[in-house]
Amino acid sequence: MQKLIIKGSRELSGKISISGSKNATLPILAASILSNQAIIKNVPLVKDIFTMVELLNFIGLKTKIIKKKNIIEIKNNEKNINTLAPYKLVKTMRAGVLVLGSLLSKYRKAKVSLPGGCAIGTRPVDLHLFALKKLGAKIKIKDGYIFAQAKNGLKGTKIKFPSISVGATENALLAAFKAKGRTILKNCAIEPEIKDLIKFLKKLGADISLKGRTISISENIAKRPKIIHHVIFDRIELGTYMIASTLLAKKNLTICKIDPKIIKNELNVLKKIGAQIKQKKDSITIKKAKKFKNINIITKPYPGFPTDLQAQLMVLLTQANGISRIKEDIFENRFMHVPELKRMGAQIEIKDKTAIIKGPTKLTGAEVMATDLRASVSLVLAGLIGENRTIINRIYHLDRGYENLESKLKKCRAKIKRI
Ligand code: EPZ
Repeated sequence: MQKLIIKGSRELSGKISISGSKNATLPILAASILSNQAIIKNVPLVKDIFTMVELLNFIGLKTKIIKKKNIIEIKNNEKNINTLAPYKLVKTMRAGVLVLGSLLSKYRKAKVSLPGGCAIGTRPVDLHLFALKKLGAKIKIKDGYIFAQAKNGLKGTKIKFPSISVGATENALLAAFKAKGRTILKNCAIEPEIKDLIKFLKKLGADISLKGRTISISENIAKRPKIIHHVIFDRIELGTYMIASTLLAKKNLTICKIDPKIIKNELNVLKKIGAQIKQKKDSITIKKAKKFKNINIITKPYPGFPTDLQAQLMVLLTQANGISRIKEDIFENRFMHVPELKRMGAQIEIKDKTAIIKGPTKLTGAEVMATDLRASVSLVLAGLIGENRTIINRIYHLDRGYENLESKLKKCRAKIKRI
């Protein structure tokens, strides 16, 4: 089991370039089932992406990963397609459930393993199945699998999601792609990653419009032989390094290959806390705050404050003066990083889905354990500001979603190594 060793309280300065978005690449890989040939660029080479590619290979697509260029080429020559997503692949990467919409849309049947829960919650897929049933799919759950069928194809209709779900919106979009007629999806998630998926589907010939939280998509008859797509940057990776800079960049730390407009809300939160931020068209430069102001935040669907930055923000707020509160309003159990942060000296209490953080508190290095992707990166941030040395165990969680984390931080003077 690999570990990370971090030597704390070092200033950061220099330049970090942001990778492509994992959470945009995953649904776009699922959507590539609908294409003949797709060339996907700016792909982050992280574990979840390799797992999704393995799933596409299992289904029968031909894939090629050109690592040094962060490109994945996918060909679907329609031979020996296996409309099955097995448990062994979906259990470690729940986004595997996104192939359900594509397989149903194009092959009118699919057998996909239920993703099961994970550290941050039960992660049900009832909203995914609700939408597919509305489109006319026959759904049966048996032996831990979703059996979906649409003998005469799916039929466009009006669907209003009872609550906002990124994955359910994506699965519904993929299913509606070849449904007859027009589908109107209401109360959709509108994360930038979904807008990137819509861009990809439009290149595939789909007629899609997005207004507010309503997406309308009509049957796709166009045949696009080959499409090329450059994946949007990873706004969660960006937010993570913005928080690291706010904490530790005595001189400037510039983060590039981004579009600051997409993270306006998060930038305002950091400015409120005290970060000194300069923006350019495709980069931002951040300097450590002179002092950190306490704030209260509730995690919300985009454009609200993202749940995927909640753990990272919590580390920052341990350094703020006074009491801060973070309410986790998206997942039922996303405070697993709290006991680990408390072992490093943080003063945090949880009261009905709200973390109450008392600051400023000096964090000291400790041996800690990662539990999920974003919790693990919050421990890296804590290790960077904590005194002495921090050892982080189970860093396979990190490798699922952060490309070249150590080398990006080392380039900014951090003392971090993997053993
Ligand atoms: C996506 O997960 C992201 N994953 C998550 O990022 C992110 O935290 C989440 O959206 C919220 O922004 C990918 O994009 C691959 P949801 P998803 O459906 O689609 C409940 C990371 O760290 N729900 O928007 O699974 C659900 O339990 C990961 O990169 C249902 O009740 O999230 C949660 O409480 C972690 N029924 C809430 O909705 C459903 O059918 C939001 O979940 C689906 C979801």
